[in-house]
Amino acid sequence: MSTSTKKIQRKVRWNWDSLQTRTVIFNKARPLKLLKLSGYRKLRLILRKRRMIKTSQTNLSSCAAWWEPNGSLPSTSDKVLRERLLTINEPVVIVEDGGSQSLASGGVTRLGETVVKEKGFPIVGYAHPIAPGLLGDPSFCRDYGLRYPYVSGAMANGIGSADIVEEMGNAGMLGFFGAAGLPLGLIETAIDRITKSLEDKPYGFNLIHSPNEPELENAIVALYLDRGVRLVEASAYLGLTLPVIRYRVSGIHQDSTGRIVTPNRIIAKVSRIEVASKFLAPPPEPMLNQLVAAGDITLDQARLASKIPVAQDITVEADSGGHTDNQQAVTLLPTMTALRDRLQAEHNYEVQLRVGAGGGVATPASAAAFFSMGAAYIVTGTINQCSIEAGTSDTVREMLAQAQQADITMAPAADMFEMGVQVQVLKRGTMFAMRGARLYDIYRSCDGLDSIPLAERSVLEKTIFRAPLETIWEQTKAFFQDRDPAQVTRAESDKKHRMALVFRWYLGQSSNWANTGEPSRKIDYQIWCGPAMGAFNEWVKGTFLEDYQNRKVATIAFNILYGTAVQLRLNSLKNQGVSISGGTCTIQPRPVAEIKEYFE
Ligand SMILES: Cc1cc2nc3c(=O)[nH]c(=O)nc-3n(C[C@H](O)[C@H](O)[C@H](O)COP(=O)(O)O)c2cc1C
Repeated sequence: MSTSTKKIQRKVRWNWDSLQTRTVIFNKARPLKLLKLSGYRKLRLILRKRRMIKTSQTNLSSCAAWWEPNGSLPSTSDKVLRERLLTINEPVVIVEDGGSQSLASGGVTRLGETVVKEKGFPIVGYAHPIAPGLLGDPSFCRDYGLRYPYVSGAMANGIGSADIVEEMGNAGMLGFFGAAGLPLGLIETAIDRITKSLEDKPYGFNLIHSPNEPELENAIVALYLDRGVRLVEASAYLGLTLPVIRYRVSGIHQDSTGRIVTPNRIIAKVSRIEVASKFLAPPPEPMLNQLVAAGDITLDQARLASKIPVAQDITVEADSGGHTDNQQAVTLLPTMTALRDRLQAEHNYEVQLRVGAGGGVATPASAAAFFSMGAAYIVTGTINQCSIEAGTSDTVREMLAQAQQADITMAPAADMFEMGVQVQVLKRGTMFAMRGARLYDIYRSCDGLDSIPLAERSVLEKTIFRAPLETIWEQTKAFFQDRDPAQVTRAESDKKHRMALVFRWYLGQSSNWANTGEPSRKIDYQIWCGPAMGAFNEWVKGTFLEDYQNRKVATIAFNILYGTAVQLRLNSLKNQGVSISGGTCTIQPRPVAEIKEYFE
């Protein structure tokens, strides 16, 4: 680089739309020299000066793309770069300009030409426009009638409310109603409402495996079949059950072209490879035979069923709120996509198997990570529980809005208490996890309520149950008489089972107290919550979404998707060697009105 070149420093300001360039060229040693030239001559001069630096620093033979300006010169302004990154429907072109990386606007980009013309700048980074609707696997959206590959996972006891399902469906996304834990009547009411309000728009219901209540699972499947619920999120399965297979293969037929048509579809939520393998395989033959024998399907339907996967889509769930194996997404997702590829090749299905991902999606960065790892779609849960549409109390929303990354822990699960299964819950502001763990310890060490040491029993009755255990048993008995009388019969002769049911009273009530916002029991609230909550709260700090009252489920979703597009563009540029300063990268939530144009 010549000395005279080194001495030249320039400040260029321009109007993007014209050649109204005002050029200041100065030499450190000499006073400012202001050039007032017009239009094209100014541009030529600047280009020549820049190229004096550029040609000495760029290995042009390695340049595979270059950019030729058409009036506007490259900008080194972080603000301009930030604005361009946020404008996700426009490309970002970074050129080398006099030794620095600058943002190009307008002009012409040429790919595959190694010779940079006199007026040209080598392109050192390119990020293409990203449409949120094209993230993931577009066939997922096509198949389910969605505009965006974003799913709000079911949340038990109607926390995944009809409001959430409707908001999501109307926004072109998919919401699953949280049917788990609800009586059939309430599920039916939700079906009535959602089918009427959403009609042909997308929606689904949860089909949760109930190892303790197989009849309930059966009854829910019968209800879904009867009411024409065509899409379920199957979850908590450790293996396949007859009801889930019955749901899937019911109504299977071939269309006039011979293609197999399955009216009922399952998105299976899994975190274990052995469970995923079962859902991605065809229904087991013995189960199909059972359904034929029961008259649920014909032999012909069983033959067709042997050619389809139980679920075309599996949601791979990493560390999440509620039931979770606390698996790491970075290892789980690649394992599952490899399994998908193997089973696709093995079974040669007519349809393509897909893998979506959930567990920890809370920010654009986490969603971008999942899409980058090949997820066909993303599933959120925890962050929707603090939305205003969630079927919970404001007290819970407030508690969630204050949660930080480490404010979560594992606690015994009500539905699989005896098996030692745990759920991930909020720790901050509630003693539920500690008290639940205490009950599980007692369950493990005592044969029945009578065997609990008196001092311990007295503490339980005073603090956790706030009533004599016998009274709690009477209430529990009344509950199960109605819901599942077999449990009562068993408990009458099995002391340990009776103790389990009494302890499960607390685990069940603690969720109800939270959902209804029972003030006298705040200390016992059971709030399912994953690490996503802390990450989300950190992301939205200082923005309009910090206040939980502004957290609408669709606003959150649009911002995650929009931010994902920005994040992916940023990542792409960085991975091409473009250096972008920290502040430029911050992606903050914005009111939907400001980003709406990218979703039209
Ligand atoms: C409060 C709450 C209740 C949930 N209930 C259910 C449920 O009943 N059935 C289900 O399949 N998943 C349930 N989940 C899991 C979510 O559907 C979703 O898969 C999960 O929350 C995604 O991970 P994340 O929590 O990290 O967002 C629940 C999650 C939460 C936070």
